[in-house]
Amino acid sequence: MYKIAVIPGDGTGPEVVAEGLKVIDAVCAAEGIEYQTTSYDFGGERYLSSGEILPDGAVEELSGYDCIYLGAVGHPDVEPGILEKGLLLRLRFELQQYINLRPVKLYPGVECPLAGKGPEDIDLVVVRENNEGLYCGSGGFVYKNTPNEVAVQEMINTRFGVERCLRYAFDYCRRRNAARQLTLCAKTNVLTYAHDLWWRAFNEIGEEYPDIRRDYAHVDATCMWMVKNPEWFDVIVTPNMFGDIITDLGAMIQGGMGIAAGGNINPQGVSMFEPIGGSAPKYTGQGKINPLAAICAGAMMLDELGETNAASKVEKAVMKVTDGKLESLSAGKMGHSTSRVGDMVVEALESEM
Ligand code: IPM
Ligand code: MN
Repeated sequence: MYKIAVIPGDGTGPEVVAEGLKVIDAVCAAEGIEYQTTSYDFGGERYLSSGEILPDGAVEELSGYDCIYLGAVGHPDVEPGILEKGLLLRLRFELQQYINLRPVKLYPGVECPLAGKGPEDIDLVVVRENNEGLYCGSGGFVYKNTPNEVAVQEMINTRFGVERCLRYAFDYCRRRNAARQLTLCAKTNVLTYAHDLWWRAFNEIGEEYPDIRRDYAHVDATCMWMVKNPEWFDVIVTPNMFGDIITDLGAMIQGGMGIAAGGNINPQGVSMFEPIGGSAPKYTGQGKINPLAAICAGAMMLDELGETNAASKVEKAVMKVTDGKLESLSAGKMGHSTSRVGDMVVEALESEM
């Protein structure tokens, strides 16, 4: 019996999580997988009414689950950074979810903004370091709000943190067994200390993986190639901030935020799965948001739990829906409501079983 913590969160988070759970429920019933969910009201509303983001003991409690299913974090009435740092980043860090795994895959029938590119060209995975880099919150101000103000924000790269991320990426690339090519995306020509560490560790660890071809691209060039020749990539490993940026670009080439999912992974602990698009507050409660990203995040969660059959059934069902059943993947333009799209995935699942 799996124990799943659910954090629907802000904005459209609850609507898309409901559809994800609908699909998980259907596939688990069919596959004989038992699970129970517990929902937590963490997010902007709770913070605005109580001043509290995560109550004492919450992180410890969450660490007792098999996984966490998250909708979205971000509220228009809360200053930027508060919920991001207090909830999302705090969970990523304290639960040691040191990998952010973001597949970029163009499903059949999905409109791609890149001319002449189709599903055979866009199928890569970004392994984003998720606990270090510019995200650590190290730094500060001196003489704030004076003409002499100094603002420093440090990029932290530890040998330990870099190595565990690289090892995960090499192992993942081997497991995926596609082109067996791992690209390090960094900026070694400018970040000659921080990314020199990445470069050296990449090559040293890479020696243990003779079956994986090592490739390197600077982050600016990576953006260029992702648009011009996305078929060149198999798995990309990259520091936290670059991973944040290139996966939004990745989401666009796979059809938009309506389909892009990710996992915050602690391979030895509790992982957390989420659609990567955010809370989209202007669509809250309108039934216009696309739930496929959340449904795909649910499939990733099943996969990480070891339920690979269930995960691939959900993915196939999603492909049946994208292939001809939606007018668009964009919010409000799907031709169907949020919950109808969830039903369509369930119907596609059932037609397979
Ligand atoms: C993401 C988001 C987060 C990040 C924000 C909300 C802190 O953009 O998951 O990519 O920068 O990691
Ligand atoms: Mn982001």
